[in-house]
Amino acid sequence: MIKNHIKLNDGNNIPILGFGTWKAESGKVGNAVKSAIEVGYRHIDCAKAYGNESEIGIAFEEIFNSSLLKREELFITSKLWNEDHNPKKILSACQKTLSDLRLEYLDLYLMHWGLAIDPNANMQHDQDGVVKLENVSIQETWNSMEELVDKGLVKSIGVSNFTTPMLLDLLTYAKKKPVMNQIEIHPYNAQLDFVDFCKKKNISITAYSPLGSHGPKENRPIEDKTIIEIAKKYDKTPAQILIRWVSQREVVVLAKSTNTSRIKENFEVLDFELEQDDMERISELNKNQRFVDPLNFWGIPYFN
Ligand code: A2P
Repeated sequence: MIKNHIKLNDGNNIPILGFGTWKAESGKVGNAVKSAIEVGYRHIDCAKAYGNESEIGIAFEEIFNSSLLKREELFITSKLWNEDHNPKKILSACQKTLSDLRLEYLDLYLMHWGLAIDPNANMQHDQDGVVKLENVSIQETWNSMEELVDKGLVKSIGVSNFTTPMLLDLLTYAKKKPVMNQIEIHPYNAQLDFVDFCKKKNISITAYSPLGSHGPKENRPIEDKTIIEIAKKYDKTPAQILIRWVSQREVVVLAKSTNTSRIKENFEVLDFELEQDDMERISELNKNQRFVDPLNFWGIPYFN
């Protein structure tokens, strides 16, 4: 059996199955979060950039006011947006997220991307097609995020979309080590070596987009014939196979859906185990193919 939780390098525990809220539409996300909690999720992943934290905050308030759950029974993550990297903005950015989510603290606060975007440029691109950046180093941003832990606003801090050189650099000056790197993982972007390396450095991994739904329709892991074949063998759905393949690697996984039956389906992955051969067959589908690439939306070959 897989573990339900993973111990972070600062001693805190994170539930291995998380509920993602990226692209969850306004008007739907609050109910989706409530359904997820009713089904059993105890880890909700949010971000300022998703534009839906205030609706999620109303749902959290309703849940904590009911007898369903106490705040400390839920693990809640949010992320510092790229336009808030300036040390002068970090405290207020975190406070804004806390106030939108109607919380007193976050369990985990992640630097969403390792680049600072000019907060006054309205995401405009320069004449070369590159998003306008701000002159702020990752080091300055990280050191300010460390202060949020000391202030009691967040329990743990980490990063998202960091590459190996970015992590190695961060480790040279971090007074508080990042506990987590949240990255895109699905069979077409399996990240075997990178996950292994992060584990060696005692940095846990969270997988976003485990179903690889951002790829073109004819090229998605959920439609892959190997995944469909394996799903039939275990009498599970392709989505359950994809989520199980990640969690069985002791990687935290974010399933996201606004559909009640799919929310439930995606949580039912703890009652079966993929055989080692099937784990490897899925890993062999890897083609280092990312579907979330800043080259496409910010003109930055971030992962190249
Ligand atoms: P929906 O909200 O309509 O369920 P990814 O893992 O790449 O982030 O994929 C999330 C997307 O996949 C969402 O758009 C979601 O749409 C869809 N999805 C979530 N769960 C399932 C499932 N069990 N089967 C099929 N599609 C799913």
